[in-house]
Amino acid sequence: MGPPLVSALKASAAQNAASFHFPGHNRGHAAPSSLTKLIGLKPFIHDLPELPELDNLFSPEGPILEAQKLAAKLFGSQETWFLVGGTTCGIQAAIMATCSPGEHIILPRNSHISAISAMVLSGAIPKYIIPEHNCNWDIAGGITPSQELEMEGQKPAAVFVISPTYHGICSNLTEISQLCHSYGIPVIVDEAHGAHLGFHPQMPHSALKQGADLVVQSTHKVLCSFTQSSMLHMSGNVVDREKICRSLQTLQSTSPSYLLLASLDAARAQLSENPETIFNKAMKLATEAKILIKKIPDDILYGNHGIVSELVGSQSITFAFNLGTCKEHVQRLVSGLQELSACSLQIETTETKVKDRGHAPFTDISMSLNPRDAFFANKRKVGIRESLGKVCGELICPYPPGIPVMIPGEIITERALDYLLGVRRKGVVVTGASDPLLSS
Ligand SMILES: Cc1ncc(COP(=O)(O)O)c(C=O)c1O
Repeated sequence: MGPPLVSALKASAAQNAASFHFPGHNRGHAAPSSLTKLIGLKPFIHDLPELPELDNLFSPEGPILEAQKLAAKLFGSQETWFLVGGTTCGIQAAIMATCSPGEHIILPRNSHISAISAMVLSGAIPKYIIPEHNCNWDIAGGITPSQELEMEGQKPAAVFVISPTYHGICSNLTEISQLCHSYGIPVIVDEAHGAHLGFHPQMPHSALKQGADLVVQSTHKVLCSFTQSSMLHMSGNVVDREKICRSLQTLQSTSPSYLLLASLDAARAQLSENPETIFNKAMKLATEAKILIKKIPDDILYGNHGIVSELVGSQSITFAFNLGTCKEHVQRLVSGLQELSACSLQIETTETKVKDRGHAPFTDISMSLNPRDAFFANKRKVGIRESLGKVCGELICPYPPGIPVMIPGEIITERALDYLLGVRRKGVVVTGASDPLLSS
């Protein structure tokens, strides 16, 4: 038996139906040729709507329910929901389901933009933790349990942790969960980059295994489903499942793509086939590449030699290794780095290194309005330098990795302005500013 939702999609598409339903390409009959030349007809033939035999994402009773149950079993949750709006939508649902307007949520200031927009949606008030910053790599560190619960007076409605971070830094979720649970506070984990955790002896345990209540994974990032497809897992009984369902119904499209949903089912099945060994090759390649790259004396990559990295930071470059990584690509990466290192004429002095270092501008932030009130407040446009000391009205976020530098309601600081202008000068895409040039 194949994966239930994949099988249902296959059977449904195979019917000789006279179709009078959406989508308008009509099972591929009217598919635009520019795209079929690129990807063929099959994606269109299988791009079906909520037909009775395909179940309903918001009230699953058939193959979607079955597929979600199989995912719950594999990942170790009590209940799993398939998402078509990425982990973004799962994080928003998790925060909406746990925090009512005016309630507090503890979260790191370097959270992904989805956690910040979740506060606009839910009306939750942030209590930020500033994770330690590793200046050598210019990346944020993890969170410690004592940082987590440094709250004055009011009990927070939820604690939100990113583990692993975009750069793979994990926090001790077992300790954090134990501490939070002793106060009856649910722990939400952004595990966007950790759907693989627990599937190899050298990997840390998953967030669910460590006691988290709600965990959101970008199945599409580390596992092999289509972009935009993710999973939300729930464990224990601290969180009300009905609130999760209501939040997801509010946030997700009423026309979820069955290609995305089936790809989640297929990615789960792929992992279920040999969960003990599936990551062996990728782990071996990553370890080998690490050893080889460490031997290269120059640590700066100056250009792109056909090797596409995930993220270029000011002090580090992120290369993602996954199930599709092959030896030939690793060899290309290593020899590309070697060649760059050998050819490089620009030898950086310690002085310029220090000057170029991009510190995260989060240590001196202060909030004048909560994110929701600031989001809905009237805005005024001022020159960029004139904005110093004023209350920010926009959610300004360099992408990737999608961590907002300015959040609605925060006082604009000189460091934040300098940081934003600096990353923009380096060519980073900055989203959320109504003036994309950042002159105002
Ligand atoms: C740490 C983190 N959380 C959440 C997300 C959102 O995930 P998605 O792209 O699946 O919506 C991302 C995406 O880059 C991320 O890096």
